[in-house]
Amino acid sequence: MSLPSVVPAPRSIHLGDTDAMSLAAPSVGGDPAAARIAAALLATRTGLDVEIVSTDAALITMSVDGIGAPESYRLAVTSGRAELMGADAAGLFYGIQTLVQLVTRNGDTWSVPAVSIQDGPRFAYRGVMLDVARHFHGVETVKAYIDRAAGLKFNALHLHLTDDQGWRIQLRSRPELTAMASSSSVGGRPGGFFTKTDYREIVEYAASRHMIVVPEIDVPGHTHAVGLAYPELVEEPVLSEHIREVVRDYGGSLPKNGAPYDGVAVGFSSLKIHDEKTYDFLADVFGELAGMTPGPYLHLGGDEALGTEPADFAEFVRRASELIADLDKIPVAWHEAGAAAGLHDSTVGQYWGFVTPTDGMDDKARAFVRNGAQLILSPADAIYLDMKPTPDAALGLTWANGATSVERSYSWEPSTVIAGITDADILGIEAPLWTETVRDLDAIDTLAFPRIAAAAEAGWSPATGHSELRTWDSFRTRVGALGPMWTKQCIRFSESDEIDWSRE
Ligand code: ACM
Repeated sequence: MSLPSVVPAPRSIHLGDTDAMSLAAPSVGGDPAAARIAAALLATRTGLDVEIVSTDAALITMSVDGIGAPESYRLAVTSGRAELMGADAAGLFYGIQTLVQLVTRNGDTWSVPAVSIQDGPRFAYRGVMLDVARHFHGVETVKAYIDRAAGLKFNALHLHLTDDQGWRIQLRSRPELTAMASSSSVGGRPGGFFTKTDYREIVEYAASRHMIVVPEIDVPGHTHAVGLAYPELVEEPVLSEHIREVVRDYGGSLPKNGAPYDGVAVGFSSLKIHDEKTYDFLADVFGELAGMTPGPYLHLGGDEALGTEPADFAEFVRRASELIADLDKIPVAWHEAGAAAGLHDSTVGQYWGFVTPTDGMDDKARAFVRNGAQLILSPADAIYLDMKPTPDAALGLTWANGATSVERSYSWEPSTVIAGITDADILGIEAPLWTETVRDLDAIDTLAFPRIAAAAEAGWSPATGHSELRTWDSFRTRVGALGPMWTKQCIRFSESDEIDWSRE
């Protein structure tokens, strides 16, 4: 008999020697928070009433026992009962996600196969990123994306809060930012922003699903919108041939200081690097954001500062990373910042080059490790979820080596992307979703699913070659088995013909 389908693949899974556990009268007990979550997820999956009862009376019991590595869990299912134990609350939460994936339909009845699973993550950081700047996505959409990601055992939500097209986070210290620079977005559509209350709601919702929020204020480039509120802080746009080409190909107008930018070109804007007012601004922004963000990381961007001289860029990221470190937060920066001498040595690098690095991007990534810090891997031609999944897809972009098939999103191994880097140098992986073409949750789902599951497996599961489950053939069957569950959860996944979808 084949192994039941779990995504991301668990560290070890064995079939038991009893019959499956019937869910004819499902009940859960034990840890009260876990019992509530399990009851809700099982009810959504099956349509059954799932009772919360005392531990002794429960079919499915759940407890935190402190045994094992952080975020790990053990699950034993026999014909008579299921026992789930987490090393910690997060481990228990992930065990529930596995249990819900194991639920199987047999005609009008439901069961869980007899299995024994021991599981825990390969990497400590498993992120998704949502760009709320190109198109704004409100609190309800963000919560829905948190639920989707948490179900695949991601534990970080990186919010790309600012870009040329708009500023999306309200700050008491700088109210002009949202008052004057938040109403625009790509294509001249309406913008929006998170109030401080909205942001707190997102942070709390994420925490309830064992996710941290990593806010990004992208500087010194990607800052055209800042100039709508503070013209004195920004340089004139650098109108390179690349910018003119993008305007020719995608429409829109050339960026002009003082006017909202609704195009999709990158790399033309910069804060003034030799003006102290810029660092007063950053101190206010990072300071307030640090106070609003319980997670350990603040992301300073640092990508595509194409009009900025290398020495100026280095001076800027040195000061920006120092500001963040002085706030007792860990700076994160896109890999370009690795080239900057003086970057604060705690700065985590985020690599967004290709699976096979080009143009010295791997050198820049290695520099973070030489400083003693770690890397987050986001190879763009594998797990940039905004790339078109097929050449004729309606949504998405193609600059990362053309369309990214599900197979390509799966078939890479984190430890071999940057030569000389080992698992110990990798904090984790992150799947970004940029939103130039993405206006709503349906579009997010269509681009993210099922490829987000490939990213989840790269972050959570054993390395390729270390588990029989870590093959494309296994993945395409296992992910296909999640189709009915995703349908019940109202996820509008792409029914990719690369995947072997189960109908129920
Ligand atoms: C990026 O895609 N510019 C980080």
